[in-house]
Amino acid sequence: MTEERAVSINLEDKESKESKDLQLLLDPSYPLLQRFRDKCPGTYHHSQTISGIVEGIALSLNLNVLKMKVIATYHDIGKTFNPKYFTENHIEDDEDPHLKLLPSMSYNIITRHVSDSVMILINDHKFPRDVIEVISQHHGTSILQYFFDKSGKGVEDTFRYKTTKPTGLEAAILMIVDRVEATCRSLSSSNKFDPACVIDKTINLLLDDGQLDEVVMKLGNLKAIKNALLKELEGVFSKRVDYDKAKIEVISEIDLDGGIDE
Ligand SMILES: [Fe+2]
Ligand SMILES: [Fe+2]
Repeated sequence: MTEERAVSINLEDKESKESKDLQLLLDPSYPLLQRFRDKCPGTYHHSQTISGIVEGIALSLNLNVLKMKVIATYHDIGKTFNPKYFTENHIEDDEDPHLKLLPSMSYNIITRHVSDSVMILINDHKFPRDVIEVISQHHGTSILQYFFDKSGKGVEDTFRYKTTKPTGLEAAILMIVDRVEATCRSLSSSNKFDPACVIDKTINLLLDDGQLDEVVMKLGNLKAIKNALLKELEGVFSKRVDYDKAKIEVISEIDLDGGIDE
């Protein structure tokens, strides 16, 4: 066997082992995933929706689909430590536990879900390091606007996540999709809305806030992300899609940072 052929077989083995590991992590019977579903059903559902959406985007951008799905599936697993403090886990008539807390306490509880996710995944040796790195960047240095406003005073920076901004395409996609999905979910319970408007507004807010400054992208990448995301959202929220101009204007008044996404 030539040296070249041996190297290529080794690479194929490595890739197929990595694919098998990733597939195992997506298996609903994987113990960590089962625990996630039991402890945090709302967040689990949110993560499954994100996983479905990023699958379409990864395919259209020629990224590793399995890896992108694992990233999406586990990005919020740290919320299993404090499920009730996250709106997606509230059951109707549940009192919002943040009502009794100082905004600074709410900030601490909410933002720690990123380091908790990293800690949980590092302790499970099946997760590739690059998957954990992408997850660690999914909120960048974004602000918890709702709790900053609630505090009524103080320095904006004290209500920002203290994590690294996205450095690659996968992390940028996760950040955008996470925000867009949370906003659409929130709007879908009360309104009809235009997903294209939500996507544009979300991406512009993230760009203006400098959250995507570290990502090296081709000019066409953002356009491809928008197109693929729009197609996926129309599938997920099909009954709520409304292209009515008047309603688009109403939506454009909504502050997409207004505490919708955590
Ligand atoms: Fe998160
Ligand atoms: Fe999320």
